[in-house]
Amino acid sequence: MQNNIFSALFVGQNLVELKQVDSTNTFLKNLLSKSTPLPEGTVIMAEDQFAGRGQRDNTWHAQPGKNLTFSILLNPGFLSVQQQFDLTRAVSLGVYDALYPLLRDSLKIKWPNDIYYQNNKFGGMLIENILQGSRIKHSIIGIGLNVNQEDFHPSATNATSIKKILQRDYDLKTILAQICNKVEGYYLQLRMGKFAQIRELYQSRLYRLNEERLFKSNGETFKGVIKNVTDEGLLVVHTDAGERLYNLKEIEFLNN
Ligand code: BTN
Repeated sequence: MQNNIFSALFVGQNLVELKQVDSTNTFLKNLLSKSTPLPEGTVIMAEDQFAGRGQRDNTWHAQPGKNLTFSILLNPGFLSVQQQFDLTRAVSLGVYDALYPLLRDSLKIKWPNDIYYQNNKFGGMLIENILQGSRIKHSIIGIGLNVNQEDFHPSATNATSIKKILQRDYDLKTILAQICNKVEGYYLQLRMGKFAQIRELYQSRLYRLNEERLFKSNGETFKGVIKNVTDEGLLVVHTDAGERLYNLKEIEFLNN
């Protein structure tokens, strides 16, 4: 009997497993630049990713064999550059839904696409788009998820993992298969034009939504309340000085 845990139609059906690589995103990007034919939904997964890249030019560290580090190839030619944040939303919701049965309501999406449990980060995404004119020809969706790692570098003060939260080991491929399945579901919804539903659901999953908190921007600390995210992906924060919009590099969440 065939026992394929990858039940999605195309995401994860072509799974490339690497022992060691610098970055699964870079690896996938290089394959595309050499015009290697790859089916949509191809997943490149690494046991040991030794030079993982993160957002804001950060690095992404993951102990070999204990975590998920992988990249998904999508070809969302139906999306314009202006709609790229909708893909971020769809993928974040897919990861959220895959993990929800394990982690329940303490699971949140920290804008734009970090995966949080309470105040701790255990997952992140680096989505790199290759454009053709005003359309997204390819999207390389890199996802890092701390699964069975227990020790983190002292500088990563708010890092956690599923094992640290739930006190047991999890099978990496089972979680990967769930993520592929759920990401595909939201991706197909996007393809059907269900932007409004996806935007609304993404907003409802946001970390610190409608809570008065401290933020930092341009060296200034201020109180604010996250109200929403614009269609294009800017964070909408209500402050004493009125409504403010921020992009990724412009605002920092403070911990209190
Ligand atoms: C972040 O939170 O800063 C994003 C981290 C993204 C890490 C993943 S791991 C797989 C893929 N390959 C990379 O080099 N980065 C992404």
